[in-house]
Amino acid sequence: MRAARHALLPLLLACCLSCSAGGVVAEPVAGAPGVGDRLFPHAGNGGYDVTHYGLDLSYEPSSGRLSGTAAVTATATQDLGRFNLDLSGLTVGSVTVGGHPAAFSRSGDELTVRPDKPLDRGEQFTATVAYAGVPRTLTDPDGSREGWLRTSDGAVALGEPVGAMAWFPCNNHPSDKAAYDLTVSVPGGLTAVSNGELAGTSQTGGRSVFHWRTSRPMATYLATLAIGHFDVSRSTTPAGLPLYTAVDPRSNDPATAAALARIPEILDWESGLFGPYPFASSGAIVAHLGSDQGGYALETQNRPFFPGDGDPPAVPLSTLVHELSHQWVGDSVTPRSWQDIWLNEGFATYTAWLWDAHEGGDTVDQSAAAAFAETAAWAFPPASPPTAADLFAAPVYRRGALVLYELRRTLGDAEFLRLLRAWPAEHRYGNASTADFTAFCAKFTGRDLTPVFRTWLYGAAKPAHL
Ligand code: ARG
Ligand code: ZN
Repeated sequence: MRAARHALLPLLLACCLSCSAGGVVAEPVAGAPGVGDRLFPHAGNGGYDVTHYGLDLSYEPSSGRLSGTAAVTATATQDLGRFNLDLSGLTVGSVTVGGHPAAFSRSGDELTVRPDKPLDRGEQFTATVAYAGVPRTLTDPDGSREGWLRTSDGAVALGEPVGAMAWFPCNNHPSDKAAYDLTVSVPGGLTAVSNGELAGTSQTGGRSVFHWRTSRPMATYLATLAIGHFDVSRSTTPAGLPLYTAVDPRSNDPATAAALARIPEILDWESGLFGPYPFASSGAIVAHLGSDQGGYALETQNRPFFPGDGDPPAVPLSTLVHELSHQWVGDSVTPRSWQDIWLNEGFATYTAWLWDAHEGGDTVDQSAAAAFAETAAWAFPPASPPTAADLFAAPVYRRGALVLYELRRTLGDAEFLRLLRAWPAEHRYGNASTADFTAFCAKFTGRDLTPVFRTWLYGAAKPAHL
């Protein structure tokens, strides 16, 4: 932040020199360089709310170079003399705000933009950033890789928690969700797959252009782009939902096909738990990342991602169930801050327990007992991961699921299942915090559930028994 301010000194001087009054020059009102997330202090920015990202990109797999423009349309939530976007690496060529050239500077992962005239609170504006370069692969605090991952024939963008800033300038925090239009040009013969629905394709000069549109609000961490050779299949579920799946030909085996063929059935079953499916299409992306890039599945919006080159099967059924359940808990109802992550992972883990029981595998009691017995699950309470490296640790997943297991024991099946269905509706397409959840439970049931939450959600100590 200090460096950014330093970088703005020349601008302030220029302003001072051009100031006809010759009087005191006020420091421009600055948007904060972070939204105040306890675990990721620099994630996101203050002073504006993004409504739409218009990304117009071109990718060259041979050189790894990405280039294009990002048009970020937002509403100022305060008077703004300058504001930040998050961007890691890449080279910014120019920035305009409202079509007028704007001054900008870089410091770490912060791109500071100073419009030619200050924005008023409530004003809608579009900041357009022209940029290019070979995007970075980021290493997360937990050692996993995200951001831009190059593959043998293209690339995959994965963004949880902060990888989106490796491929487009953004307000990189789950609390600021927006719609997207992504247009990407790739060499002919390759496919570009993203979230939402395919709004158009065209061929020009030996290149293919794909236009993907995400109309429902999406957090930056859920945005994806996969470029490469894919076997694409398009179909419609019996319920009329369009499916678009893109599978790396190397993973296009009967086991993967059999798992993906169950998407309609799983979505139907999950709709029974969580209410109507929140998006206009579904599907999956299965890509090979290369052995050195690790691999984890991710609930990228509409169209979850699965690494095809890990241990087979590429798409384990319980992982598919897990990622599809995130469409309700995570993608439609998104954590307000990163410490609320158990609202994603605890719910998705619990859903996979229900599925296993439904499929005739372990009963929910058996899954809960195994989680209770797992030493690592008791490292911290699910409501408060101590550091950014703990975001995807065992307590968030398994102890998070135990919160729901205990809630069900307290409420009984009927009331619990009503609550499970009402919760995604309450915050559909929005954000929710842990406090929102506990308050909702109290209001919905009219009961004092403090003892359950105190023990299972907030308590440091492991209870004597389940
Ligand atoms: N949200 C993913 C899941 O469904 C896990 C993401 C892991 N990301 C990471 N940076 N470790 O479980
Ligand atoms: Zn998950």
